[in-house]
Amino acid sequence: MEEFHWTKKWEKKNADFHKWNFDLSKGPIHISWFNGAETNVCYNCLDRHVEAGEGDRVCFYWEGNDPGQERTVTYQEMLDLVCQIGNYLRSQGAGPDDEVAIYMPMIPELPATMLACSRIGAIFSVVFAGFSAESLGGRLTSPVPKVLVTCSAVRRGAKPIELKKIVDEALEIVEQSVATQAVDPSASTPHMHQAYSNRRLAEGLSSAALGGEDGSGRKGVPHVLVFDHTQASGLGRDKFQAGWVEGRDVWWQDVIPSQPTTCEVTWRAAEDTLFKLYTSGSTGQPKGVLHTTAGYMAGIALTYKYVFDHRPTDVFWCTADCGWITGHSYVSFGPMLNGATQILFEGIPTYPDAGRWWELVDKYQCTVFYTAPTAIRALMAQGDQWVKKYKRSSVRILGTVGEPINPEAWWWYYDVVGEKRADIVVGEKRADIVDTWWQTETGMHMITPLPGCTPLKAGAASLPFFGVEPALLDQAGNEIEGPGQGYLVIKRPWPAMMRTVAGDHARFEQTYFSQYKGYYFTGDGARRDEDGYYWITGRVDDVINVSGHRIGTAEVESALVGHHLCAEAAVVPLDHPIKGTAIYAYVTLMEGLGHPPDDPEAVRKELVKAVRKAIGPIATPDVIHWAPALPKTRSGKIMRRVLRKIASGHESKLGDISTLADPGVVKALIELRGK
Ligand code: PRX
Repeated sequence: MEEFHWTKKWEKKNADFHKWNFDLSKGPIHISWFNGAETNVCYNCLDRHVEAGEGDRVCFYWEGNDPGQERTVTYQEMLDLVCQIGNYLRSQGAGPDDEVAIYMPMIPELPATMLACSRIGAIFSVVFAGFSAESLGGRLTSPVPKVLVTCSAVRRGAKPIELKKIVDEALEIVEQSVATQAVDPSASTPHMHQAYSNRRLAEGLSSAALGGEDGSGRKGVPHVLVFDHTQASGLGRDKFQAGWVEGRDVWWQDVIPSQPTTCEVTWRAAEDTLFKLYTSGSTGQPKGVLHTTAGYMAGIALTYKYVFDHRPTDVFWCTADCGWITGHSYVSFGPMLNGATQILFEGIPTYPDAGRWWELVDKYQCTVFYTAPTAIRALMAQGDQWVKKYKRSSVRILGTVGEPINPEAWWWYYDVVGEKRADIVVGEKRADIVDTWWQTETGMHMITPLPGCTPLKAGAASLPFFGVEPALLDQAGNEIEGPGQGYLVIKRPWPAMMRTVAGDHARFEQTYFSQYKGYYFTGDGARRDEDGYYWITGRVDDVINVSGHRIGTAEVESALVGHHLCAEAAVVPLDHPIKGTAIYAYVTLMEGLGHPPDDPEAVRKELVKAVRKAIGPIATPDVIHWAPALPKTRSGKIMRRVLRKIASGHESKLGDISTLADPGVVKALIELRGK
């Protein structure tokens, strides 16, 4: 912490964090770190290094979707760009605590905009540029941001995606929503289907938890700043003329380069909000997770330094998009707080071929590489030859994040990518694997090996990071001592943890602290072995981890019942060889349509389209199972346990189904599997 620049230091008395706890019965949960301190995250990421004479150090090696598209951005150039963006955002009225939304592809301007917001004290909210217009619209209403920063279009692999068009559509939804809320402030947000929200209410969820009570919604529409990405996407400005709204839309290239390259820093109190990031929970309405300034900065700087064993000569590459927490903590901030050089890649690992990542590893001499198990499994399926074509001799640490890594994938990563035979003794190996467990809510790595330090076990996230105190609880909420399996909880606050859910502190307390008194509940299950190592077993709530991305079952169900042919839907996870878990949807169609319907393929396509429209391609259901009815208890609760067993073909192990209102439903469902 001493190496950071502070305009005010924290008060010493706050160092005594042991007096804090997570016990709701003792009052509201209010976490704060470094009280009394004042700093600025952007200043610590950029100015500090430039002032120390490191301005010429490479900040980003940018590689575009297509080979041959590349840019190098030094720390000095990054600072200049960030200042220009900061000045412009300020000129548009974005000041401290105002929101700026970002919907951009992986170009240097994306982290630069995040840093620019932090420089001027604006709260940034990045929405992954793979989300649909409806999803984006739903994330732009509470409040409506002052500015929305986006890009004309981008190519992902061979496919062009017109981001600006998606933004135009999203803003129409926002306008409608703002107008509706002006008439009826309790109206539900755009992507919560009313019939569905009524059903969830009947299941006992509060309207606040569903997002029915909106907070301080700012009326109107944002100013839209559009980066012209013609060169890379192949689509010129003229392509976007039709949807252009004069007075609302401005081309980035017309206004940013003319701004001054110095921009006054807005110093922020330790607990001032840095950013909001939406993530899926157990209800249909994504939660806006809020992170603050000093604690977040300390947590990610420290974890980056130790978990990736940072050295000044490193070339770090995190393949995550800045639209997710991994891209926030370990692209935009953690590495830059440590003055690291990074690779920023816009494309996908299989374009133009499945060797692209390894080609880039050699090209830029990457030393530390961080990715998700789903990508490892996908590349593993393409064959070793794509990896072996390249040297990869620069790599010394390989990281994973986002979902449990199966031992097979772990060994492939270790043996083939890290090019090591399994029988070589510890100490001589070339690349260590760090399997990092953490969450949007935790902000920073929580359970992870430290390279060169922690003896590795394939598939174990291993041991807690400094100061993190995990525990396992049984069904009754009692702590399990020694080896065992249970619900993963955390006992004490850590600096980078979320502080609240935007506009809904009650939901924050209810989601994370009400289940087990005195603990932060992660929503994950885990096993602890005889060496104290943690093995994460996956989500135990209504969240499905698809390719490392969190999708709430309720969000998918809401999208399905939003379609006029669908009467009811229930979504469960299904093991998948590449995605880890896939989405399996049971659908009851409207009366008279039949199960299966006359043209099952056509209806299936329609329903999948509805989900992609409401959420985005990442939420595409892999299976749609026609269900004349769903298995419900007499009180109307869907027995998801039964649905999971039927989906995975384990109907011989259904357990006790005597509480079902109509046990005959089960037989009908089994008969319809695969139809
Ligand atoms: O289920 C855990 C899984 O991802 C969830 C958090 O998702 P998200 O907030 O989107 O953040 C992902 C990136 C930090 C967790 O509750 N998860 C994350 N890392 C691991 C993991 N599961 C097993 N092993 C991991 N290393």
